Amino acid sequence: MASSSRGQFTSRFGFIMAAAGSAVGLGNVWGFPTQAASNGGAVFLIVYLLMVFLLAFPMLVAELTVGRYGQSNPIRSFRSVWPKGKFGAILLGVIGMVVVSLILSFYAIVAGWLLGSLFGSSLELVGIESASQWLTTFSTERNLILMMAFMALTMFVVSNGVANGIEKWSTRLMPLLFILFGLLTVYIFTQPGAWDGLTMYLVPDFSHLTPQLIVSAMGQAFFSLSLGVCVMTTYGSYLKKETNIPKTAAQVALIDTGVAFIAGLMILPAMFVAKHNGVEIFSASGELLNSDTLVFTVLPAMFDTMGTVGTLIGLVFFLLMVIAALTSSISMLEVPVACATEELQQSRRSAVLWIGGLVTLFSAVIVFNFSALFGLVIQFTTVYSQPIIALLITLMVGWIWHRNHILNELKQGYPEIEQSWFWKIWPTYVRIVCPVLMLLVFFA
Ligand code: TRP
Repeated sequence: MASSSRGQFTSRFGFIMAAAGSAVGLGNVWGFPTQAASNGGAVFLIVYLLMVFLLAFPMLVAELTVGRYGQSNPIRSFRSVWPKGKFGAILLGVIGMVVVSLILSFYAIVAGWLLGSLFGSSLELVGIESASQWLTTFSTERNLILMMAFMALTMFVVSNGVANGIEKWSTRLMPLLFILFGLLTVYIFTQPGAWDGLTMYLVPDFSHLTPQLIVSAMGQAFFSLSLGVCVMTTYGSYLKKETNIPKTAAQVALIDTGVAFIAGLMILPAMFVAKHNGVEIFSASGELLNSDTLVFTVLPAMFDTMGTVGTLIGLVFFLLMVIAALTSSISMLEVPVACATEELQQSRRSAVLWIGGLVTLFSAVIVFNFSALFGLVIQFTTVYSQPIIALLITLMVGWIWHRNHILNELKQGYPEIEQSWFWKIWPTYVRIVCPVLMLLVFFA
């Protein structure tokens, strides 16, 4: 397939919105605040920031550069970086593609719940309580229908291609997300109790610092920047040659971390507002109750105590969550779709149909065996597979890919890079520091 027929992002802004859209997701708005709340607040925040800066950002540059160099799907991009390792490169690409599809299969279930809460709040606002009840109460039928609705949305966007689907929707939805986010955070701050949450979030208590916390922070940073499963490699392949990759990656990482930080500013105070309003959030010993259901129970309970305004605020909140989830899920589906269109020479539309269909099917299997599979799939993909694949990618970039090729690739958008401090540090860093840090953290 001629490379001229490949999609491309039309502007740097569009790319940043799409990549930040991938990065900003449930991991930021839900995962990060939940983890921060159950890991001592400020200490988790500090370690997380370190992990983003020391590990995730260099990795993001690596993944984007591999993709742009290869100008192709991850399987072929890895091969172009590692010409002698035909088998290894293909295997790595295929594993990444499979893992990201598995991530999508559980992500779509959670996103479906958010969709349910969004419709639920809307129906409640117009007084249709029974349907709202059904949409927000756990049941196999509800989980199935909402997951399918969310997958349909994801497939719709991806089937329209890179510029007309992914870029168009990300540039529309991400600014909306930022605005809603700002409004909501300001509103929460005006509520009684918010200050206690802020204290927990910003004043560190180092007695919480444990190896477990560091591992969680690393996993969270990888998940949040969509690393290790070829998403950023794929998006990088649609990046124009004149784009400055380190700078663009820094902006994406900054937006993602900024959103996670603000999500903490919103959700931790919101928990204490909820507590102030009589919702139980901490056990007698100070543990966070229901960390998994924070977003689905604690926050709605808080919205309930605020009357009609609360329902409206809930609606805005869930709209924001659905947007965040959708701009992430499209980036996941794009990985296998890019592989199928280029490796199997299929049309985008048919690739989206069968791959989206398969992911939906697997997701349905999880829905029907929820208690056995849901946690297991999350654990397998995000705790084990993702960091391991990320490690393999760093090793490939650091040890196999020729340094001059990397330099030439980066130079195209950053001619003076050889003189920069970035180039003095980054190659050795990816070669040695990243893998060592990851192994250390992983075996801690
Ligand atoms: N980063 C997104 C979030 O924070 C989720 C996401 C998108 C993702 N693509 C990914 C996670 C690839 C892991 C791998 O929610």
